[in-house]
Amino acid sequence: NEVKATNVRYEHGTVSRAKRAKVLGAGQFRGCTVWFTGLSGAGKTTISFAVEDYLVMKGIAAYSLDGDNLRHGLNKNLGFSAQDREENIRRVSETAKLFADGGIICLTSFISPYLKQRELARKLHEDAGLKFIEVHVATPIEICEERDVKGLYEKARAGIIKGFTGIDDPYEAPVSPDIVLCADKDNIHSIGDCVQQVVSYLQQHDIVP
Ligand code: PPS
Ligand code: MG
Repeated sequence: NEVKATNVRYEHGTVSRAKRAKVLGAGQFRGCTVWFTGLSGAGKTTISFAVEDYLVMKGIAAYSLDGDNLRHGLNKNLGFSAQDREENIRRVSETAKLFADGGIICLTSFISPYLKQRELARKLHEDAGLKFIEVHVATPIEICEERDVKGLYEKARAGIIKGFTGIDDPYEAPVSPDIVLCADKDNIHSIGDCVQQVVSYLQQHDIVP
């Protein structure tokens, strides 16, 4: 990624994180990013949206960024080549960091298939003093394919979609994720358990009360 912006300098604002927390009605700054990664159909979107709903219902500022959704706007000029997936995740990492810096718990649901890109996302946050929590939604491919909610696996097997993650495109599983979710059952209980697992982590790490 060549840097093309010249004659620019970083300008520092004067609003502290503590002040932002006050404006959000929080006793402390809670901004961070919870990064869900996993295969297509693993349950990233469902779990991320459920955690978002849970937090907001508790009066905690949270916002979900989702792959399918961002590809309708910010990332609409990107496809699924390795280069485009990298750029997709780079933009999402920067965006998530801005939300987190603003005091919001940012939840991201992207396949984000490359280890290196996820490590860059972590570094971007940690260098800015923001917590980054990697969550592996570890549903096995057999189950994702069996569910095939969007019919994409069938199309990939038929060769109609080329370069589909897990079929003919790589997915590099996390080596030491902060949380591993077993979302291989299709019931509400299983989703509720996953939400609880994420919320417990946030509580244990003093991010939410
Ligand atoms: S990535 O790899 O992180 O850049 O992908 P992401 O932005 O999360 O977008 C994944 C969603 O795009 C749909 N889709 C595909 N996924 C994987 N491979 C290919 N070739 C592909 N083409 C379209 C699919 O709906 C993915 O959503 P999820 O929620 O993961 O199923
Ligand atoms: Mg999704």
